[in-house]
Amino acid sequence: MAQRKFDLQPLFVEPLFKTNIGDIITPEQIEWLKGLKMVRNRTNFITEDLYIFEKIEMASVKTAIQEMLDIYAKEVLGVSHKLYVTQSWVLMNEPGIGMHGHTHSNSVISGSLYFTDMPKPNPKMVFNKHRTYQQLELTPEREKTNIYNTTVNVVEPQKGDLILFSSSLQHYVEPNMSNQKRYSIAFNTFIKGKLGDYRDVSELNL
Ligand SMILES: [Fe+2]
Repeated sequence: MAQRKFDLQPLFVEPLFKTNIGDIITPEQIEWLKGLKMVRNRTNFITEDLYIFEKIEMASVKTAIQEMLDIYAKEVLGVSHKLYVTQSWVLMNEPGIGMHGHTHSNSVISGSLYFTDMPKPNPKMVFNKHRTYQQLELTPEREKTNIYNTTVNVVEPQKGDLILFSSSLQHYVEPNMSNQKRYSIAFNTFIKGKLGDYRDVSELNL
């Protein structure tokens, strides 16, 4: 019997925004970021200061990220609302250490900025599309894996890369198998503007 034809169409997709702003990060800013006091965060390290973009040393980086958030709101989300950074911090993974799976609560879009040379081999950031407990793990065979059935996808960031993604997306970082420290900046955002509709009694002014 001849094989019947069929079509597959993507009903919805998950955006991951990526750009490179390495050209605006100065050597002095890199040294300042590396010199921040860090404390333990389960297995890796996190800065004691969780509002680093509020510091004068980060003013130019904050401006560049705000420009990208404005583009994200307008071009990716397609809204006129303002996305603004809430908390911002530096993470450091020592050799042998990765970062546990997590999501970012009380945030709309989260971002990562890679301000140093990345370790070799370069640990990937692994995203998982499932946002809730999965009673069934239906993992596709390796050669049959595609964008429709995969449960995970990865990003291999380079120096200067800025990525933006939904804060509700589960992600982790692979263990650092090099002998160099792996640094990144992470941040959360929220929205300003009006949500919902007055007559629909769903209005919320933020
Ligand atoms: Fe994260």
